[in-house]
Amino acid sequence: MEHNRILVTGGAGFIGSHLCEKLLEQGSEVICMDNLFTGRKDNIRHLMNHPYFEFIRHDIQEPVYVECDQIYNLACPASPIHYQYDPIKTAKTSVLGALHMLGIAKRCHARILQASTSEVYGNPTVHPQTEEYWGNVNPHGLRSCYDEGKRMAETLFFDYHRQHGVDIKVVRIFNTYGPRMRPDDGRVVSNFIVQALKGEDITIYGSGEQTRSFCYVDDLVDGLIRMMNSRDGFTGPVNLGNPGEFTMLELAELTLQATDAKSKLIHLPLPEDDPVQRKPDISLAEKELGWGPTVQLREGLGRTVEYFRQSIASQVCPALKKCVSSHSVGAARAREARFCFENDKSFGVRHASGI
Ligand SMILES: NC(=O)c1ccc[n+]([C@@H]2O[C@H](COP(=O)([O-])OP(=O)(O)OC[C@H]3O[C@@H](n4cnc5c(N)ncnc54)[C@H](O)[C@@H]3O)[C@@H](O)[C@H]2O)c1
Repeated sequence: MEHNRILVTGGAGFIGSHLCEKLLEQGSEVICMDNLFTGRKDNIRHLMNHPYFEFIRHDIQEPVYVECDQIYNLACPASPIHYQYDPIKTAKTSVLGALHMLGIAKRCHARILQASTSEVYGNPTVHPQTEEYWGNVNPHGLRSCYDEGKRMAETLFFDYHRQHGVDIKVVRIFNTYGPRMRPDDGRVVSNFIVQALKGEDITIYGSGEQTRSFCYVDDLVDGLIRMMNSRDGFTGPVNLGNPGEFTMLELAELTLQATDAKSKLIHLPLPEDDPVQRKPDISLAEKELGWGPTVQLREGLGRTVEYFRQSIASQVCPALKKCVSSHSVGAARAREARFCFENDKSFGVRHASGI
């Protein structure tokens, strides 16, 4: 039987690992390419023995030759903490990485999908954001390495399409959450959950009235695959996200309910260029892909909390294991938990903007 051979860059990351899993389930051969900067082997360990799965440790800033029928280009650190760690490298990953992947697509006549982002809209002056909106982006701020890198990658995709006829698909992903997010990535969902499970205060930036929309990872992966297999000539860009809008205060409240924690909410100043409102208009995805999110925030948060509970319980000391596997985080246990986290840097929560 012939298998579609699919290259997934960033395949060991949060979204990429779920995508690899789904593509294998659908009978494709998957080549996962990742430099493991923010990705983890643990995310794909369960796929390693699959006969149609292959892992290549490679940095897409460097040229590479692979034969494939489709490419999902997801490689790029996505949380502010990680993409601001080495901003020049982030820009190179987006721009040089896109060039190298487009080169493969051109040579192999492969269809290629770019994981772009709602960040291309910057701090939007239009609400909700449709794909026609060109954005309001600071070109030289702390977030620019990511925002402008992704914008340049979109430009390259459309120029390769116009100039060389490369078969491109561009999706703009809005905040996505779910199991396999890193506990230390500073994104609002993982921050809140880890703080609640630790019995710590929940940090809200600004008044907490700013809104975000949150898409569960399974819905997003379904949208990516639908876009890859959409009709010839439909290039996007297309928004993929959940239009349900929640304030940070509402998210904190839902997290407290999902974790059964009693944490207090504390307020810190808003970081630079933090968008006030983000909400996708997904009419185009509905019309072209027949796609819409199906998992409600309360349900998705429950699954994500369970993931963090289990991963924390399997990695830290026995006292904390007891603490986080029980649904009540009492004061004494919270103290034990804090002690354990302080001694385990991999679970330290560092602070950044919402997402
Ligand atoms: N998660 C979201 O809410 C969200 C929102 C918008 C866009 N996106 C986009 O989706 C993609 C995946 O995001 P994610 O949330 O899974 O993040 P992630 O950090 O978990 O995944 C990114 C993966 O890319 C790998 N990577 C980074 N630089 C690389 C390089 N130079 N060469 C090879 N591999 C490299 C990382 O090791 C990691 O496995 C990213 O392109 C991101 O910009 C995500």
